[in-house]
Amino acid sequence: MTVQTTSLKGPDLLGEIERLKRERNAVILAHYYQKPEIQDLADFVGDSLDLSRKAAATDADVIAFCGVRFMAETAKILSPEKTVILPDMDAGCSLEDSCPPDQFAAFRAAHPDHIALTYINCSAAVKALSDVIVTSSSAKIILDQIPKDQKIIFGPDRHLGGYLARHTGRDMLLWPGICIVHQAFSETELLKLKAEHPDAPVAAHPECPPHIIDHADHVGSTRSILDFALSSPAQTILVATEPHIIHQMEKAAPGKLFIGVPGGDGNCNCNMCPYMALNTLEKLYVALRDLKPRIELSPEVMERARVPLERMLEMAGRTVGQGDVGMPIIEDKDDGVPPGEIDPRISGD
Ligand code: 13P
Ligand code: SF4
Repeated sequence: MTVQTTSLKGPDLLGEIERLKRERNAVILAHYYQKPEIQDLADFVGDSLDLSRKAAATDADVIAFCGVRFMAETAKILSPEKTVILPDMDAGCSLEDSCPPDQFAAFRAAHPDHIALTYINCSAAVKALSDVIVTSSSAKIILDQIPKDQKIIFGPDRHLGGYLARHTGRDMLLWPGICIVHQAFSETELLKLKAEHPDAPVAAHPECPPHIIDHADHVGSTRSILDFALSSPAQTILVATEPHIIHQMEKAAPGKLFIGVPGGDGNCNCNMCPYMALNTLEKLYVALRDLKPRIELSPEVMERARVPLERMLEMAGRTVGQGDVGMPIIEDKDDGVPPGEIDPRISGD
């Protein structure tokens, strides 16, 4: 895709982004994996759950989403009346790519007695085929609300699904997707780092494969990794997630040492998300100026995808164990529950 750009630079570029933001009544939301200069001018930086909550609650007219496409789509689904722009529409995700909606629909159809608990890193069309969406920070809280005898399909991240299964003893059918970034972390490089820094705890994202998770002292979403890194008494932390999050750690705790775990043989950039890296300040400026690239989704997909997303927001806010998720609802999405309300069979209300 040809992306328009600008010759504006430095303070002129930042000033123009601020001016356009005011003129458009826009809010800039950014994920922790964005470049530092984007994180620094964003109104809010967060993990996928926090960003979804912000997108659902904002009173801005325009959401400029500095993250990847599935995140911007989530913002659009939760705030359909708003204009949602993404600086580079090619900012996808390997997990989304691994799960084509037609194949996911066929998988669901082959397991009619299962509900689909689906990681937010997927297309809007796959969300529309799901019962409850989860993020890495809400997955366990939500899983704990589902009755033990309910059969579950978990997709598209097999490592997050596998981690949850090991952690909770739940047997779930896993879709075989992976995150190319977290898959690339090298156990050998991690062990070398641990030998060099024997007192440093390891914080890892659950998208990592088990051979990395097995060495972790803390496993959680980007925000929980950030919280752990800041609250740990350790002066050195080994970080097994996309390294741009270290920017927030260094800002908040400049006296500590945060070391990103390398990918491959330690000499590649494969621990950086190539999709997140597509967004730049120049592209953000152009997006705010032209109000495009803009997220456009069919009303039908948005209406169906909003139901499992709003379930996630509702269930993620609950005390663990209060819910009563029972019947699979895949066969009949037209369940009489207006979009935006929780199906009582899922919520236990
Ligand atoms: P969280 O920020 O929700 O932990 O997600 C990580 C990620 O890989 C986003 O694509
Ligand atoms: Fe997708 Fe992995 Fe990039 Fe996150 S880090 S957007 S899961 S490819």
